Amino acid sequence: MTPDRTALLARAEAAAEQAYAPYSGFRVGAALAFEDGGVVTGANVENASYGLSLCAETVAVAQAMAEGRRGGLLAVAVAGGRGGVTITPCGRCRQVLSELAQAGATDPLVWCGGGEQMLERKLSDLLPHSFGPASL
Ligand code: THU
Repeated sequence: MTPDRTALLARAEAAAEQAYAPYSGFRVGAALAFEDGGVVTGANVENASYGLSLCAETVAVAQAMAEGRRGGLLAVAVAGGRGGVTITPCGRCRQVLSELAQAGATDPLVWCGGGEQMLERKLSDLLPHSFGPASL
């Protein structure tokens, strides 16, 4: 079943409320929708050693894999920020999302919120010619 875009973006927005972002004040939430109807969320987790901060999408993927998920990723929603500007996953998060997607041979839709314009792209369009398990 195709995940509901509005509902998944709402889950990402709710997740952003749990962000630990005392340094940037930039709170991001991510929600991952799976084939079995499950949704896993994450929020960014910053660190006093700034470069160690974790993005919302990476936290969500880690949570999903910690729950035993190894595929079935159909859609990703990202929301939060300061409003006005649409948030797209950073380069590192595209790679992290790609690992989970490729593990289950899916090409999820990525719904980018946080701004006035929602942007929808396939993950493979955000990360073309990706490096993955098949590259090894
Ligand atoms: N951030 C995310 O959580 N996801 C992204 O896709 C981009 C950036 C976080 C990292 C940092 O905590 C804050 O947003 C500002 O860069």
